Amino acid sequence: MAVTLLPHEITKSSAESLRRFIQELHEENDLVVISAEVDPDLEVAAIARRVYETEDKAPLFNNVKGQHPNGLFRIFGAPVGASRIPGKRFIRIAKLLGLPSTATGQEIIHKLNAAKRLPGIPPKEVSSGPVKDFKLLGDEIDLMALPIPFLHQDDGGKFLQTFGMYVVQSPDGSWVNWSITRSMLHGKRSLVGPVMPRQDIGVIRQMWKDKGQDMPFALCFGVSPAAIMVSGMPIPKGTNETDYIGALTGNPVEVTKCETNNIRVPADAEIIFEGVVSNSETASEGPMAEYHGLIFPGESKQCPLFKVNAITYRKDPILLICVTGRAPEESETVWGLTQAAEVLTICQDAGLPIKMVWNPFESHCLWFILQVDRGELRALNTNMKDFSLKVGHTVFGSKPGFYIPKVYLVGDDIDPTNLKDIIWASATRCQPRVNEFFFDQYPNIGLIPYVSHGDRIGQFHYKVVRCCLFPEEFSHELEWREASFKNNYPQELQNKIERQWTTYGF
Ligand SMILES: Cc1cc2nc3c(=O)[nH]c(=O)nc-3n(C[C@H](O)[C@H](O)[C@H](O)COP(=O)(O)O)c2cc1C
Repeated sequence: MAVTLLPHEITKSSAESLRRFIQELHEENDLVVISAEVDPDLEVAAIARRVYETEDKAPLFNNVKGQHPNGLFRIFGAPVGASRIPGKRFIRIAKLLGLPSTATGQEIIHKLNAAKRLPGIPPKEVSSGPVKDFKLLGDEIDLMALPIPFLHQDDGGKFLQTFGMYVVQSPDGSWVNWSITRSMLHGKRSLVGPVMPRQDIGVIRQMWKDKGQDMPFALCFGVSPAAIMVSGMPIPKGTNETDYIGALTGNPVEVTKCETNNIRVPADAEIIFEGVVSNSETASEGPMAEYHGLIFPGESKQCPLFKVNAITYRKDPILLICVTGRAPEESETVWGLTQAAEVLTICQDAGLPIKMVWNPFESHCLWFILQVDRGELRALNTNMKDFSLKVGHTVFGSKPGFYIPKVYLVGDDIDPTNLKDIIWASATRCQPRVNEFFFDQYPNIGLIPYVSHGDRIGQFHYKVVRCCLFPEEFSHELEWREASFKNNYPQELQNKIERQWTTYGF
């Protein structure tokens, strides 16, 4: 056993329990339990980074140097990296959603999309849970004494929070937001991190600021895998992630009240940090190597202070980390992927004939591939320009559109999860300028390297729709064939060759 499961966790799915998720990965040989002592000062992160880049097993570090006598904490690295097990590249993503380990990109996106059409299931309040087993309050807390990892040698500090979930709520309690945003260690009882005004956490913080008050928060590690996935998903403002998570798993999330505020947190999470985000105090944060795979050393920013008033945790608690950098890591496998699912829903709601959306991991969350149903497209009686502009305004004007600068439209002969297909379609069907449609009226997230460090000539940095369809495909079925073994030889001949392959001498 890689981890101890409580009796009620044995019956849960991998989407509903982190420990069940870990156990299943172990059983399927996609997890390595590391008992040797590892140093949280770069060593843990360097191992996780190598794991991402080689698509190796996820490491559970059981023996972290400096582990606190109270058990804080073990570390789980690359929790949603890709896997090199044949036929199971997306095993960790699939298990976040309770899908079979062999699930394809299409099955994953369609699961997220289908749950959007189901009625939400609100959370269920319980009086307590494993996360209340141990408690540290007020001056008992010393974050500096915890083995908080230093992730990249050019980072501006140690990052406690890279793959935990923040819970905040509007002052009247009607809107509860679960989301991921990073936080750096600042002091004995403080963290510092960005709170983007555009994100729901930023909108809710403004509500508290308007009342002249600090915003209560809970930072939760080891929430259910479905919950961490949805926390990274830009679902519409005003909606509660909890209800969609319930729809995804078919069961309500069990939540329990914090010790020091009115926030409800997942009852079987691993560790909870409770506190308030100051409405006035800031400190220098970062830099941290980013999801785009670069770091600009020395570039720190002033960000709000998060003051910690309580820590609660279960036995042998596990801290999850995401070591951002070259893809794929959780930025692509969780954030980019859930953005793609959200864009599919948005396009469908706008009546656009889009069958599938994918964010190729290699694009570091910057290319979104929209697969067009060409039969439905022809029925629309439209043309390349009108259609591309409509898609651009729909996607770039949406909530995830802030993060998305480049959209590729491909036909349904192209598999958007196959990078070879995307490059082939773009290279052969997208004429520079004629098939490209530019937009400068929509803002971009400042983290995109050419936004923070590139020239701007329009109102904002440009976004683009690149149409990888022939103009004729908008009006009739164009007569062309793919020149490949599968598509340009009679089926009978293909079967014969496959049968006799080794007898030819291969
Ligand atoms: C691993 C991971 C790390 C993330 N880190 C940040 C971050 O540091 N800052 C940020 O603004 N968004 C970050 N995000 C993206 C947000 O979580 C995401 O856009 C989410 O939808 C924002 O919440 P909202 O929909 O409630 O606005 C991260 C996502 C993931 C999956």
